[in-house]
Amino acid sequence: MINKFEKYVFTITAIVIMLFVFSLVYARSGKRADVPDCLPYDKAYTIPAVKQIDSNLYQVYAVAQMWQFQPSEIYVPVGSTVDFFVTSKDVVHGFNIYDKNVNMMAVYGNINKTTVKFDKPGVYKITCHEYCGVGHQNMQAEVIVNYPDAKNN
Ligand code: CUA
Repeated sequence: MINKFEKYVFTITAIVIMLFVFSLVYARSGKRADVPDCLPYDKAYTIPAVKQIDSNLYQVYAVAQMWQFQPSEIYVPVGSTVDFFVTSKDVVHGFNIYDKNVNMMAVYGNINKTTVKFDKPGVYKITCHEYCGVGHQNMQAEVIVNYPDAKNN
């Protein structure tokens, strides 16, 4: 037997869930937002790397761990499209690229992927925005777009 108040709460809950589902669908199709993909786990992605796939396509295997990102400096030419494959070696970290509307989680045992185009030269900060311990505020890396002595380490 449910009372009036419970019925009310159920109704509100159902409406909120429908709104949530609708906004996801809308963001994905209507707004063409790039919702990150979750890929099958593959150990290859746990080794930090910057790979050039063709003249303007790069892949970055970004590995978060307490309290750093690797690679910490990613050099690409202007106009590059970069696929980021993000994972963690320990706890949950965040992966936020300043100015690029990238807001991802780095999770142990998971690979999250997103694609970013860098049309303007500059230094794009990557920061951890998920509290992960005493060194949290030091966790950052950089995407360096179009520096003449571009070199990946
Ligand atoms: Cu990693 Cu906060």
